[in-house]
Amino acid sequence: MTNLTSIAIDGPVASGKTTVGRIVARRLGFRFLDTGLMYRAVTWVALQRDIGLEDGDALAAMAEGLTMDLVPGAGDDRLLADGEDVTERLRDPKVDAGVSFVSRVSGVRTVLVKGQREMAERDDFVMVGRDIGTVVLPNAGLKVYLGASVELRARRRHHEIAKEAGEALPYEQVLADLTRRDRIDSERADSPLRAAPDAISVETDDLDIEGVVERILAMVE
Ligand code: DC
Repeated sequence: MTNLTSIAIDGPVASGKTTVGRIVARRLGFRFLDTGLMYRAVTWVALQRDIGLEDGDALAAMAEGLTMDLVPGAGDDRLLADGEDVTERLRDPKVDAGVSFVSRVSGVRTVLVKGQREMAERDDFVMVGRDIGTVVLPNAGLKVYLGASVELRARRRHHEIAKEAGEALPYEQVLADLTRRDRIDSERADSPLRAAPDAISVETDDLDIEGVVERILAMVE
């Protein structure tokens, strides 16, 4: 058993943090939140409402007024934005293309971070993202930073896209897109992707999912 109440897992695109975080949460009886989905939900709603993704002030005002709820469902939790279930919209290619612009906006980040902290105060959570250990939950009981080479991550993402969309994109295109998103996430001024100084880094190139989960559970012990 553990007396931890929150676990922060950060890492770049396709580092395996969502898959691993979800299993760790289930094993510990914690709730799970992939914070990337909240940035995706803001992006989806902005596209629906014709708010320009370069208009930071309008995005921040919209995020401020948006009610987001994480509701337990039959499988994964569902994300509701102003009462509408947007879960199935969040992997839309238009959201993929726009979300790094939205997640650069400080006003949006402030609103979402506040919501994430409130959730972690109410329940035990495994939270995954880019800034959980550094900004959202600086006092998390355990902080993990998952890394993997860009080639391995691009191969994983390439495989996932083929499975999700039923149609493969060229590997070179997936690699270029992932490199671009890594750059935007790590070079932005507000809350860039970083390992917290007290995070434990796990390099996943030579580990399968179960191996990474076991490492994290051993740290919890
Ligand atoms: O993990 P993901 O690909 O679903 O994340 C979508 C975008 O949101 C990505 O550009 C990084 C950003 N993000 C962030 O800035 N902070 C977080 N805590 C989670 C995601």
